[in-house]
Amino acid sequence: MNNAVDYTLQGEIAVLKAQNPPVNALGYDVRIGLIAGIERAESDGARAVLIYGDGQTYFAGADIREFGQPMREPALPEVCYRIEASPLLVVSSLHGTALGGGFEVALSTHYRVAVPSAKVGMPEVQLGILPGAGGTQRMPRLTGTQAALDLITTGRHVGAAEAHKLGLIDKIADGTPLENGLAFAQELLEQGAPRRVTSELPASEALDFDAIYETTLKKGRGQVSPAVAVRAVQASVELPFSEGMKRENELFMELMATDQRQGLIHAFFSERAVSKLPELKGVAPRDVTAMGVIGGGTMGAGIATSALLAGLDVTLIEMNANAAEAARGRIEGNLGGALKRGKISADKYEAMTTKALVLSTDYAALGDVDLVVEAVFEEMSVKKEVFAKLDAACKPGAVLATNTSYLDVNEIAASTSRPGDVIGMHFFSPAHVMKLLEVVVADKTAPEVVATAFALGKKMGKVSVRAGVCDGFIGNRILRHYRTVADHMILDGASPYQIDKALTDFGFAMGPYAVADLAGLDIGWAMRKRLASTRDPRERVTKYIDKICEAGHFGQKTGMGYYDYSGGKRGGVPNADVMELITAERAELGITAQDFNDADIVRRYMAAMVNEAARVVGEGIARRPLDVDMTLVFGYGFPRYHGGPLKWADLQGLPDLLADIRSYSESDPYFWQPAPLLEQLVAEGRTFDDLNK
Ligand code: CAA
Repeated sequence: MNNAVDYTLQGEIAVLKAQNPPVNALGYDVRIGLIAGIERAESDGARAVLIYGDGQTYFAGADIREFGQPMREPALPEVCYRIEASPLLVVSSLHGTALGGGFEVALSTHYRVAVPSAKVGMPEVQLGILPGAGGTQRMPRLTGTQAALDLITTGRHVGAAEAHKLGLIDKIADGTPLENGLAFAQELLEQGAPRRVTSELPASEALDFDAIYETTLKKGRGQVSPAVAVRAVQASVELPFSEGMKRENELFMELMATDQRQGLIHAFFSERAVSKLPELKGVAPRDVTAMGVIGGGTMGAGIATSALLAGLDVTLIEMNANAAEAARGRIEGNLGGALKRGKISADKYEAMTTKALVLSTDYAALGDVDLVVEAVFEEMSVKKEVFAKLDAACKPGAVLATNTSYLDVNEIAASTSRPGDVIGMHFFSPAHVMKLLEVVVADKTAPEVVATAFALGKKMGKVSVRAGVCDGFIGNRILRHYRTVADHMILDGASPYQIDKALTDFGFAMGPYAVADLAGLDIGWAMRKRLASTRDPRERVTKYIDKICEAGHFGQKTGMGYYDYSGGKRGGVPNADVMELITAERAELGITAQDFNDADIVRRYMAAMVNEAARVVGEGIARRPLDVDMTLVFGYGFPRYHGGPLKWADLQGLPDLLADIRSYSESDPYFWQPAPLLEQLVAEGRTFDDLNK
C-alpha cells in the first residue's frame, strides 16, 4: 500500500480510498495503490471491495502530466483488468467528476453507485486521444453502440440521472461516497448479487461504422481523435474483448504520438494557467455585485448580457431614451436566446430583464456600481469625455474599465483623477458568447484592480488573459500583422477564396476574408483611412477593396463583399468583381502573379502570426507564450488542436520557421523582420514552451 490509496477493512468490505488531490488523477502511485489494495482485500478475507475518492471527486482521469513520458507499469488497462478479474464483488461509489481513465476504472468494477450531482464521461478526444483503458470496449457493452459513440466522440459529461438511464451506473443515492458505497455493497452482498463483469457482456449492435467515421471526421474540422475513436468502438462490436483491447491500445498509441495530442493538452493546461499571475498571489479582488455599462450597441449589450447571466445587477447608460430602448431590445434578445436554449429558466429571464437591469440616460445612476465598463465609440476624445463623467459620478473605489480594442489605456487613465482604478477589459463580440477577455493593465493600474477584473472574468465564464498597453494589445495587434500578409499574398497571386479555403482546411472556423465580410468591410476601410497619414511608404497596401467599399458593399450586412450573398447560399459565393479589381491592381503595380499552393499560404500566414506574437512576448505585452496561444484560441478561432500559434511553432521547429522568415524578407525586408525573441530562442536551441515554465 502507499499514501495515494488508503486501505481499511470495514466488516466484510475492504475500502480503498484514493487520496491524490486535487482531482484524484490516476498517477503511478494511485495505480500501484489500487492493485495492492485489491490484493490485500483478497488475502484479508473480505467479501467485497469499495473504491471511492477522497475530497472533491472520484478519479477525474489519468494523470495528464504523465503523457508524453515513458509509461511506468502498471499501466491503467492492467489496473482495470486486475480490478475486474477480482473474485470479490467490487463496487465504485462516485461523486464529483468520474472522467476518462477514472470512469474506465469505474466500468471495470462490478457495480456503480453515484450521488445525484455526480458527472461521468470520456472526455479523452478533447485531449487528442481516446479512452485507452478499455473504455471504448466496456462502455458500448453497457449502453449500446449508439450512445457509446455519442459519449466517446463528443467527450461530453453526463449527469448521474442520464448515466443511470444509459446503464452506466446502477444506483443513485444521497449521502457521502463512503456511506453510499458501504450501503450499496452491503445490499449487494445480502442479495447474493453475482459479480457482473462488463467485459463478459455481449457485444453491442453493429452500425455503418464507415459512414459514422466519415461524418465524425468532417465534424472534427481537422481534429482526428473523435473519428479514430469510432474505429475503437467498432472493434468492440466486431472483435472479441481481448482483441478489441489490443485494437484500442494501437489506436490510443497512434493518437498519443500526434501533434494534435500535444496541442490539445497544451491548451488544457494553458487555459488554466492564464489567470494565474504571480503578481496577484495574495491580492484580494474588490467585491463586484453591481456593474455599469456605458453604451448599449452590440458590444455594450453583449457585455451587459454576460454580466446579467453571471448574476450581477446592471445599470446601462445610453445617450437618449430611444437608444436605451434599443439597448434593452438587444439585451432581451440575447437573454431570450439563452432562455430558448435552456440555459436560464423563465423566472431567471424575468428577474434579469426587470429587477437586475436598469437603463438610464443619467450618469448619476452609476453612483452605487462597483465596476463600470465603457463600450462607446472608438475615439479618444469620446472616451475621455465618458471617463470624465465616470470620474464625477462613480463612488471611490469603483473600477473604471474601458472596452477599447486598441486605444491607449494609459492616456485614458491619465485623464481621470484616479488612474489606479482604470483598466482595460477588452471583450470580444458577441460578448455574451465569446470566451476571451483581454485584461489590459495600464502603468498605474492597482494590483487589486487587476485582480478584480480577473475575478469578474471568472464569474462571467471567460478565459481572461493579461495584456500590456500597445496598439491592439495582444490579439488585434497580431491579427493586423497576419491579415496584412494575407493581403500581400493576394497582390502577389493568391485569391481571397484560395486563402480562406487553405486556412479553414488548416482548422480555422472561417477564413480571414469571410470574417472580414462578417465583421463589416467598413471597419477595415475606416482603419486604413485612420492609418494612411502615418503609414510608412515601404508598407504594401491593397486598394482594390476600398473600391468595393466605395460602391457601398460592406460584406454580409449589405449582401455583398468578398462574397456575394444575394443567392441565399450560406457563406455566399465569390464576388466576381473582386478578382477583376485584384487583377487590375496587380497590372497597375507591375506584379506578375505567382502560384501559391495551400501549404505556402498557411506557412506565410502562420509565420507572420508567430513572428508578431514573438514580438508581443518579447516586449512583455503578453507575459508568456501561452497567453498569446489562449488569446488566439479563444478570441480568433485559432484551432485548439494546434495548441495556439506559439505551440504550433514549437511543433514545427523554430529554426525552420526563422529560416522561412529570413527568406521571405529578401523580397520584403520591411514587413519580414525576424522578431528578436525568435532569433534568440533559435540561437539558444530553446522553444517558446520553455518560457511558459
Ligand atoms: N491530470 C492531471 N491534472 C489534472 C487533471 C488530470 N486528469 N485534471 C485536472 N487536473 C488539475 C488541473 O490542471 C488543475 O491544476 P492546477 O490547480 O495546478 O491548475 C487542478 O487539477 C484542478 O482542475 P480544475 O481547475 O480544472 O478544477 P475544476 O474543479 O474546474 O474541474 C475537472 C475539475 C472537471 C476534473 C477538470 O479538471 C477536468 O476536466 N479535468 C480533465 C479530465 C479529463 O480529461 N480526464 C481524462 C484524462 S485522459 C485519460 O484518462 C486517458 C485514459 O483513457 C487512460
